[in-house]
Amino acid sequence: MATILITGGAGFIGSACAKKLMDRGDKVVIIDNFNNYYDPSLKEARIKKFLKGYKFKLYRGDIRDAKLIEKIFRKEKIDKVIHLAALAGVRNSLLDPRSYFDVNVMGSINLLEAAVKYKIKNFVFASSSSVYGNNKKTPFSESDPVDTPISPYAASKKTDELIAHTYSHIYGLNITALRFFTVYGPWGRPDMALFLFADGITSGKPINVFNRGKMSRNFTYIDDIVSGTITVLDKCQGYGVMNIGGDKEETLMRYIEVLEKNLGKKAKKNMLPMQPGDVPKTVADIRRLRKLGWKPTTRIEKGIANFVEWYKKYYNK
Ligand SMILES: NC(=O)c1ccc[n+]([C@@H]2O[C@H](COP(=O)([O-])OP(=O)(O)OC[C@H]3O[C@@H](n4cnc5c(N)ncnc54)[C@H](O)[C@@H]3O)[C@@H](O)[C@H]2O)c1
Repeated sequence: MATILITGGAGFIGSACAKKLMDRGDKVVIIDNFNNYYDPSLKEARIKKFLKGYKFKLYRGDIRDAKLIEKIFRKEKIDKVIHLAALAGVRNSLLDPRSYFDVNVMGSINLLEAAVKYKIKNFVFASSSSVYGNNKKTPFSESDPVDTPISPYAASKKTDELIAHTYSHIYGLNITALRFFTVYGPWGRPDMALFLFADGITSGKPINVFNRGKMSRNFTYIDDIVSGTITVLDKCQGYGVMNIGGDKEETLMRYIEVLEKNLGKKAKKNMLPMQPGDVPKTVADIRRLRKLGWKPTTRIEKGIANFVEWYKKYYNK
């Protein structure tokens, strides 16, 4: 049994990791500031409903507060860290780049400083597939160059990777950057496509389909993200970068079609050009993580069905 700090633990991925870790007997400490980037009541519900019946320590606070971070490591005797707290969302980062660097970079430094001081065994953190930018070679592999991010969000995540490497090199920390590929599933994020599409379809409003639908992704089901994250948390050595993505490239139009089928209603589609900062294709090479014994198991047909079941119940639709 280990004591694991999850930053952003009221978030989509953080709350799901927390549940899985507690199921196997680990102790969980969460820090989250419940910001209003999207409806904070969903974050509250993840804590009160999704994690109902579980015992964990919750700190309502900001990772930019270095003193608070220090206190948590000291008081809670943290063994390992899953650092997920960040301002997510590519498009929003164009509107408020300062905040993205403040939280995603300066906040991460607070965590790394405490990790050094308290000799943390393993530290994994959320990077993103967006660091691959407009790379032409697919699938995206961890050894590909990622020097040309195309949004402040992607640049902040790439910066995190550089800083994490520095800390690992100087202080010998075991740190892995997890490059997540478009995560979806129950208790997901209302700012992401699946949610926006579901809202549009159920209310009869048109949905925005960017790049006129010519997009594809390795959509990754939340349970696969959780099992990948925990696999790396248990095994990471030295500094590493790891893609975590689904094993099938799916087109955006197919994603919408499966959602329509599950909601029993057709979407009104507003076909639009590409948005600045976004990329048409993110496809993962996942051989590195497979070598640690992990494999993704949920395809979109099952994953979207699970999402719709949760969505209808949660929103009473
Ligand atoms: N969901 C995806 O598809 C995806 C893809 C690539 C990378 N990521 C990364 O994975 C991580 C988790 O993403 P998610 O989808 O669970 O997002 P999320 O927004 O649901 O979770 C992030 C949590 O961090 C908290 N937070 C933000 N700023 C904070 C601060 N200053 N102090 C304390 N808490 C703060 C938020 O309140 C939120 O609950 C993020 O770092 C994100 O950039 C997500």
